[in-house]
Amino acid sequence: MTDKLIIFDTTLRDGEQSPGASMTRDEKLRIARQLERLRVDVIEAGFAASSNGDFEAVKTIADAIKDSTICSLSRANDRDISRAAEALKGANSGRIHTFIATSPLHMEKKLRMTPDQVFEQAKQSVRFARNLVGDVEFSPEDGYRSDMDFLCRILEAVIAEGAGTINVPDTVGYAVPELYGEFIRTLRERIPNSDKAIWSVHCHNDLGMAVANSLAGVKIGGARQVECTINGLGERAGNCSLEEVVMAVKTRRDYFGLDVGIDTSHIVAASRMVSQTTGFVVQPNKAVVGANAFAHASGIHQDGVLKARDTYEIMRAEDVGWTTNKIVLGKLSGRNAFKQRLQDLGVSLESETEINSAFAKFKELADRKSEIFDEDILALVSDESVTSEKEQYGFVSMSQHSETGERPHAAVVFTVEGKEVSTQSDGNGPVDASLKAIESYVKSGAEMVLYSVNAISGSTESQGEVTVRLQNSGRVVNGVGSDPDIVVASAKAYLSALNKLQSKSDRVAAQG
Ligand code: KIV
Ligand code: ZN
Repeated sequence: MTDKLIIFDTTLRDGEQSPGASMTRDEKLRIARQLERLRVDVIEAGFAASSNGDFEAVKTIADAIKDSTICSLSRANDRDISRAAEALKGANSGRIHTFIATSPLHMEKKLRMTPDQVFEQAKQSVRFARNLVGDVEFSPEDGYRSDMDFLCRILEAVIAEGAGTINVPDTVGYAVPELYGEFIRTLRERIPNSDKAIWSVHCHNDLGMAVANSLAGVKIGGARQVECTINGLGERAGNCSLEEVVMAVKTRRDYFGLDVGIDTSHIVAASRMVSQTTGFVVQPNKAVVGANAFAHASGIHQDGVLKARDTYEIMRAEDVGWTTNKIVLGKLSGRNAFKQRLQDLGVSLESETEINSAFAKFKELADRKSEIFDEDILALVSDESVTSEKEQYGFVSMSQHSETGERPHAAVVFTVEGKEVSTQSDGNGPVDASLKAIESYVKSGAEMVLYSVNAISGSTESQGEVTVRLQNSGRVVNGVGSDPDIVVASAKAYLSALNKLQSKSDRVAAQG
């Protein structure tokens, strides 16, 4: 057994399955680059057979990322597996992760297959995948609620077919730490060829125990791979959080005795990037990456920390990438300084055109806001119009009027496929009026399921970052917009969400 813990990040696959967290190909690539910078061992880039968009995203990431293994999920059938292999062709190191449900409930009610049929399909799929790539992972979906004898039989067979990693998902977040750890240990003890595979844990957070369960799977069960996501992003209550699991293993090396290859100084930037891209805000008291994670409010704590830091701090804020809010750039900063700051923040824009577009936006912002913080720059580059291909809608300008006792009114100018249109409307408030003005022209009919505003750098002088989540014909998308004027940020966020609704995506659900 090695003493290295493999970090398998599934932000771009399981994380993205979270309703409203869907990302464009460019957004995924940007996050994949950040994961590579973090030195994540395996990046699950998507589920290639689920849609053309996902295929393209996996392929783009496989072609671009060279230091991490790139993985595609695939159901246990030849078509999905071939699609995954095709998308991974350009990877330096590619992995196919194939899965089939093994719990009595899932086999009977969802798959309508007998255990023997599931057994045969799993075996045959791993054999098929191994003929296409050297690195194959197998997951028995809802593994933790599966019958132990059946699980031992199927896992022994797929290891014999060449699956090098066996992942045991607690798909519905039902496990408790000790039992989950023992579950993995029992599998490893009972399966004769278990030493031919690396054992992996994959825990969901429905009962708030995903990190604890994963760590128990490592400590008690002997797993050597953890599947996790940045900020714990994922369906329902999310997945095991990468930053928490990594910092637990690093901080308590005395207990776990394991090495992780992650460069933790990029954690906060990764967290911000995922949060700004998806619009899923990080709660202030979230471990490691929450705004208050290293803030000491009580006088006694502050006094202690000033006298000796380790009185109340078990990790150093700077080790996970926290920097004090410093003014990094201003109106007079040049293109080179801007480019350098992007690099320091771990952002790599693809082309000179993208850098120019981001720099133009930076100059525009610097004209209106004298102090530009790291958060402003990150918000600016997550603005779709900097990085994405042609958009249907683009914000141009707006005005609005509101006065106590009068109904607010807004006029918005925006582009539709490059042509400017002007619309206006009144509404309950200035934000409502401006979004109604846009909708009166676009007529998307989408339902707004979330609207949230967040002050990027914490004061009224900061930019407002607005997230708008729209739902239409079963699709849920997030639009994010930022601007010192929150009404403008709202209009930008709404247009960004409409752009995403335009991009067709007929997805197959991973667990459907
Ligand atoms: O939670 C789960 O079971 C999964 C599998 C597809 C690995 O995400
Ligand atoms: Zn999962």
